[in-house]
Amino acid sequence: MVTTTEIAPEIYRLAVFVPEINLEFSHFLVRDDEPLLFHAGLRGMFPLLRDEMSRLIDPSKLRHIGFSHFESDECGALNHWLEIAPAAQPVCGLVGAMVSVNDFSIRPARVLTREDNLSTGRYRFRFLPTPHVPHGWDAGVLFEESEKTLFCSDLFHQWGHREPTTREDILERCHDALRETEAGPFANYVPYTHHTGRVLESLAEREPKTLAIMHGSSYYGNGAQALRDLATVMREVLGPKAQEGETTPAGLITA
Ligand SMILES: [Fe+2]
Ligand SMILES: [Fe+2]
Repeated sequence: MVTTTEIAPEIYRLAVFVPEINLEFSHFLVRDDEPLLFHAGLRGMFPLLRDEMSRLIDPSKLRHIGFSHFESDECGALNHWLEIAPAAQPVCGLVGAMVSVNDFSIRPARVLTREDNLSTGRYRFRFLPTPHVPHGWDAGVLFEESEKTLFCSDLFHQWGHREPTTREDILERCHDALRETEAGPFANYVPYTHHTGRVLESLAEREPKTLAIMHGSSYYGNGAQALRDLATVMREVLGPKAQEGETTPAGLITA
C-alpha cells in the first residue's frame, strides 16, 4: 500500500511501509513539464509504485530519474522505469555514472556537476555531490532551488511508520535511530569522516525549507538548523571517542 502526499507544490511523496523491517521507503515524484522521480525504488516495489504514479502522471512520460547513491532502494528499479519511459534518463554525479550507473543502466546517465542546472519546467534542480554522506563514494543529494526542497536520501533516517510530513523537531528520532542502528546488525550504516561536518554544513548553507527524507517523515521548517543539529548528532553517536590516556586538543583525557 502506497501513501501519497503532496509535500510541496506538485512534489509528491509516494511511501511504502514494510512492517517486517519496520521501515518506510519514500519516492518523490515531481509533476512538471519534464517529470522527475527521485528514488527509483526497489525492483519488488516497482508494480506498486508504477500503478500509484499513474494516478498522478502517465509513467511513460517520466524524463528524469535521480537518486543519491547506487543501492537497491535508491535505484534498483531504474531499468524498469527506463523500459516504460522511452525519454527518461538517469541523472547522477560523475562518480555514480562512471563507477556503476553506466554499466548497470540500459541508458547512459546524464551527469550533473555542482555547477549544472537541471530544469524540469517550473522547477530547477542541482545535484550536490556529498561523498560518503550518507554513504557511498558516489553519494549526492538533489536540491530544488525555487521552493528550496532538499531531497536528502538516507539523511535523517527514522525507523517506523511515520506521519508523511511534520513540522516537529525530528532530531530526537534521528538520534534514536542512529543509536539503535549502531547497536544492531545494520551497524556502520553511515560512516563518520573528517568530511562529514563540512558536507552537512555545505547543505545547511542552501537553507532548505523542506527536507524530502527517504526513511521517515518529510520535514518542514528550518532545514539549515536541522542539518547542523544532525551534524552534532552524528558526531556524538558516530564520531571518534577520546580514549583514556589520549591527548586531544582539549588536553589529556583522564576518565
Ligand atoms: Fe543508502
Ligand atoms: Fe535508503
